Amino acid sequence: MTHGQFPYIRGRRLRASAAIREMVAEHNLKPADFIAPVFVMEGKGKKVEIPSMPDYYRYTLDLLMDEIRELKEVGIRSVLVFAKVPDELKDNKGTEALNPDGLMQRAVRAIKDEFPQMLVMTDIAMDPYSSYGHDGIVEDGEILNDESVEVLSKMAVSHAKAGADMVAPSDMMDGRIGAMRKALDQEGFEHTGIMAYSAKYASSYYGPFRDALDSAPGFGDKKTYQMDPANVREAIKEAKLDEQEGADIVMVKPGLPYMDVIRAVKENIGVPVSVYNVSGEYAMLKAAAEKGWLNEEEAMMEALVGFKRAGADLIATYFAKVASKILNNKK
Ligand code: PBG
Repeated sequence: MTHGQFPYIRGRRLRASAAIREMVAEHNLKPADFIAPVFVMEGKGKKVEIPSMPDYYRYTLDLLMDEIRELKEVGIRSVLVFAKVPDELKDNKGTEALNPDGLMQRAVRAIKDEFPQMLVMTDIAMDPYSSYGHDGIVEDGEILNDESVEVLSKMAVSHAKAGADMVAPSDMMDGRIGAMRKALDQEGFEHTGIMAYSAKYASSYYGPFRDALDSAPGFGDKKTYQMDPANVREAIKEAKLDEQEGADIVMVKPGLPYMDVIRAVKENIGVPVSVYNVSGEYAMLKAAAEKGWLNEEEAMMEALVGFKRAGADLIATYFAKVASKILNNKK
């Protein structure tokens, strides 16, 4: 493949200018790929920066509306809502999670009223409502499965009633997708979708998120329900089960340490795959950038396109707004 000492196949021809690089790019990001997580809290006129997530805020509902307007203006089509529940409303059964006038339900109604085109997804898990900070009901130090699934299914129906377009169960109890699908259908919410956190790992990268919602487990860890980081076949098994049980989208979480899992799930599953670029991944990049050790924008865009290359169709990320602005300015 040479004439004399020179190659005649030269990969560098396709890297020679911005024009040719963009023309042959195998993957492209767009704002509609992003799902923007939003944190809502009780009160009025306040926003609080999350200490371990610089530039990311928890908003009272009135200010959250301004934030969502901004997300919409940069082209983001979907938000994933998390509510911070006051301590006095937490118990072992997640009672407040089913309150039709709870913060989550009010937030969903308010967002859908003002921004009907915005696709609203809600987190389904008991930890923000649990006095133990676990994703299910606790009995004798154990996390009960089937009893928790009943509460989670009711929670899904309650969010659907408030107007959620999709529910996003992040709890990792067995059988919850089928149970939730059935409960939604029985209540007439056959058009409400389910984005299942199918391969959710017991990860240390959720730390900053637990600061945001004050939802760290009060005892033990989540290893009896979230997955072991050593496993990938198990991720395929979980995603297949969720697909069979009726999940519309399956998710892998966290993102960066699990790129191979995204690829494996993508190749074995027929429904769209999303990835959650979690709080610890955000914090890691922000901290390195703050120290001047990484170029924040470049490292961020590289990670985000990496998710698409790995096989993700959708990306839940705290960088959604910033990355969308960069993508819009490139045009
Ligand atoms: C709740 C939930 C968690 C996250 C999303 N939903 C925390 C956990 O499972 O402990 C983490 C998101 C992030 O770290 O960005 N079940």
